[in-house]
Amino acid sequence: MQDILDAIMAAEGATEPAKELAAVAGLPVPESYRGVVVRADEVDMFDGMATREKDPRKSLHVLQVPTPELGPGEALVAVMASAINYNTVWTSIFEPVSTFSFLKKYGKLSELTRRHDLPHHIVGSDAAGVVLRVGAGVTKWKPGDEVVAHCLSVELEDPAGHDDTLLDPQQRIWGFETNFGGLAEIAVVKSNQLMPKPAHLSWEEAASPGLVNSTAYRQLVSHHGAAMKQGDVVLIWGASGGLGGYATQLALHGGAIPICVVSSPEKAELCRQMGAELVIDRTEFTFWKDEQAQDTGEWRRFGARIRELTGGEDPDIVFEHPGRETFGASVYVAKRGGTIVTCASTSGFMHQFDNRYLWMNVKRIIGSHFANYREAWEANRLIALGRIHPTVSRTYPLEQTGQAAYDVHRNAHQGKVGVRCLAPVDGLGVRDRALRERHEPAINRFRGH
Ligand SMILES: NC(=O)c1ccc[n+]([C@@H]2O[C@H](COP(=O)([O-])OP(=O)(O)OC[C@H]3O[C@@H](n4cnc5c(N)ncnc54)[C@H](OP(=O)(O)O)[C@@H]3O)[C@@H](O)[C@H]2O)c1
Repeated sequence: MQDILDAIMAAEGATEPAKELAAVAGLPVPESYRGVVVRADEVDMFDGMATREKDPRKSLHVLQVPTPELGPGEALVAVMASAINYNTVWTSIFEPVSTFSFLKKYGKLSELTRRHDLPHHIVGSDAAGVVLRVGAGVTKWKPGDEVVAHCLSVELEDPAGHDDTLLDPQQRIWGFETNFGGLAEIAVVKSNQLMPKPAHLSWEEAASPGLVNSTAYRQLVSHHGAAMKQGDVVLIWGASGGLGGYATQLALHGGAIPICVVSSPEKAELCRQMGAELVIDRTEFTFWKDEQAQDTGEWRRFGARIRELTGGEDPDIVFEHPGRETFGASVYVAKRGGTIVTCASTSGFMHQFDNRYLWMNVKRIIGSHFANYREAWEANRLIALGRIHPTVSRTYPLEQTGQAAYDVHRNAHQGKVGVRCLAPVDGLGVRDRALRERHEPAINRFRGH
């Protein structure tokens, strides 16, 4: 592994980095590597505990794991950096189900997918690094290419996935529903997960937008989502968080008017620094009277606050992911004919809303999940062009991934939390310094928060 890292590090400051990186083609692939795993023999470790007490630091381990055989259409990537996504939090607390059930099911699909059904699950759904090897049939990528990986894994043997790959019956999220994820020194991906690494970003910056930026792009911008247009009022929950930090930027960049909902003055300030003018502190509202009943008076008060900020307008789009706690309010405040687009249920998946507000006002609820390759590519292109910026607030070394996931689980983070896998320090891998200089303050906006 050290030889591979040395070859990648030789590209730092080199006049022709690609030449240095091409050397990885001649280096042997290590037989094993370090990866962050949950273990099948520990899935019961948090039984009986409340969700918030389940501690990812106890369940996420760094293990030396065997390098899997490379299949057709796949690539082995030396991972310089990855990032924490909420799905790793779910995996690490074994909620709502243990991810070993996904690996078992995937393992039954074919001789090749059987590799994934192991007693350890190497997690992580983001990566930036260098291609080490490509499998049979791969022509678009070669060893030495600097890449980021998106997390849509599809088989596409079924016609259902050929209009929109999200509809493939064998659609999975890499590193969550498959093994060999990005929180490791080496990752196995399908070659159609690969995209060019944005040249003006460091490894940890390039690794951090992938999952959340692509998800927010499909939710807000794509015709599969809310198809946002100029001037739309967009209510964004968790607007300085993983998804929300990109939803806010995409709304601003697309000429929409974001209303950012956050839970602290510091988070409100980050939204303002991104360029948002309308911000609401959600701690001023209590949408539930008790476990069973919502306070419709609070929905109204929330709606009135939105109108106060917009000069009387309701949201054309509500960007939903908190789920149970906010969904009733989201359906209530959306404009007549408006769209609630949801990709998650962090606070609980059994939602309650007053359906009269939905049908009488012809609102729509759209379910959205990650993004197809094209949407992920377009989202990454916006990053590469310097139109949308990373939101890395801090990074941890691979050994402290448990702590990184713990921060996200407790909602004690801002934006994205990065993880250095092979990268020894932050800031490496920048190839286009001129583009970086133009956007440096925006790239660093979340750092240290
Ligand atoms: N389907 C998909 O493809 C997909 C993709 C990405 C993420 N997700 C899911 O989406 C959810 C959010 O992911 P993320 O990466 O954005 O996580 P994150 O970084 O933790 O950000 C979520 C934000 O939501 C806000 N929030 C948390 N609990 C809330 C509540 N009860 N009511 C209102 N706001 C609340 C928090 O902001 P404030 O405290 O400032 O309000 C937090 O910063 C997770 O459940 C994740 O698994 C799904």
